[in-house]
Amino acid sequence: MTAAASSRERAARALAAVSQGASLSQVLPAALEGLTGQDRGFTHELIYGGLRQYQRLEAILAELLRQPLKPRDRDIHCLLLLGLYQLSALEVKPYAAVHATVEAARALGKSWAAKLINGVLRSYQRRATELEAQLEGDPAARHSHPAWLLERLQQDWPEDWEAIAAGNNRQPPLSLRVNARHGDRVAYLARLAAAGIQAAPLAHTSHGIRLEQNAAIDSLPGYAEGDFSVQDGAAQLAAPLLELAPGQRVLDACAAPGGKTAHILETEPGLRELVAVELEPDRLQRVRDNLVRLRLQARLVQGDVGRPADWWDNDPFDRILLDAPCSATGVIRRHPDIKLHRRPGDIDRLTGLQARLLEAVWPLLRPGGRLLYVTCSVLRAENALQVGAFLERCPTARAVPIAVDWGRADGAGRQLLPIVNRADEAPTDGFYYACLEKAMDEAA
Ligand SMILES: C[S@@+](CC[C@H](N)C(=O)[O-])C[C@H]1O[C@@H](n2cnc3c(N)ncnc32)[C@H](O)[C@@H]1O
Repeated sequence: MTAAASSRERAARALAAVSQGASLSQVLPAALEGLTGQDRGFTHELIYGGLRQYQRLEAILAELLRQPLKPRDRDIHCLLLLGLYQLSALEVKPYAAVHATVEAARALGKSWAAKLINGVLRSYQRRATELEAQLEGDPAARHSHPAWLLERLQQDWPEDWEAIAAGNNRQPPLSLRVNARHGDRVAYLARLAAAGIQAAPLAHTSHGIRLEQNAAIDSLPGYAEGDFSVQDGAAQLAAPLLELAPGQRVLDACAAPGGKTAHILETEPGLRELVAVELEPDRLQRVRDNLVRLRLQARLVQGDVGRPADWWDNDPFDRILLDAPCSATGVIRRHPDIKLHRRPGDIDRLTGLQARLLEAVWPLLRPGGRLLYVTCSVLRAENALQVGAFLERCPTARAVPIAVDWGRADGAGRQLLPIVNRADEAPTDGFYYACLEKAMDEAA
């Protein structure tokens, strides 16, 4: 089989698995295994592009297929979606795209599909203008989002929902956080420049760097030595908002994979203790691995942070980071499979869980202490409305204003959307931050 057909076959298998419920992070390593250079890049592009454009491509294919394919031919269905993606969005020569897609069907052991693929893709070429015009009347297809999610975005962000949808479908930059215990940003930028890698400081962060080109992470200077981590600029805003100081005891309530755990430890080496709790044992292992690489130490606890009786030693915390489980609708640009997997009912389930976790960890905070509530969601139900309801229920909690010049004020906290929030800023992931302080007199 040619390399061109192999890329398409791998991408079709990956897309089929994701469309049947697997997560992209589960299937990506096998899909790219053994590939290097252009072949790897092209396969990656097909998988991410196919997922970013998924709802749009499905709408086009529905117009072109006389009847749906059988569930066991999901791979051919996805091969057709990828064929349409190449013809409509990539600069692949149409003849080459059709030819290699047919070859990929043969490689999948489904030669019978050759005629179907030829027919559907050639029909798209003939009818492209008409079909693309038709999409204009269907917002879900035009913006390539599930209709329910688009409606929620529109309801929450009437001015910005279209920009958010477009931002979700754009490729994000690769962002790093320099390990403050190993050196500063200026020195690391110089190391990147010496290695011929173009990069620039990330706005509003002290140690953030944005790479101007794609690069394999483990080939960057100092990876094995733990000189940096991969982390979006929005996620790097958590540690500074905690106002850390020597001697504090800190709870990182939902820790995995440990990006913010490490940032807290890098920011304040003099903490009395950092306790990092994570429910999933395999995800806790990722925190452990990250801390080992970065040469950092914390007390790691596998458990349900919502049931402190199982793991808490009654020693209160000065700071709590609650990076709550959420819809992850702020990081769709990095995880486009979220658009396929999230269901409307998930939002109610998640808001219930977030409320339960907030209630459970609040008593663990010492009077005068600070809790930082964080999500990587852009839905107000998980963010401003969630925190607003907690403040109404909990008389000992008060909101601390976040005096910064990033994002936008929403309720008690600040929201970053994955769009240009301010004229001078590149878009970040979508995050919400709210700082809550506990009254000195708990009876207040
Ligand atoms: C948004 S992620 C945290 C990201 C992390 N703070 C970082 O910056 O790398 C939420 C995490 O909470 C975990 N989680 C969900 N429910 C939990 C619970 N009841 N107790 C502890 N951890 C939980 C999830 O498994 C997931 O790893």
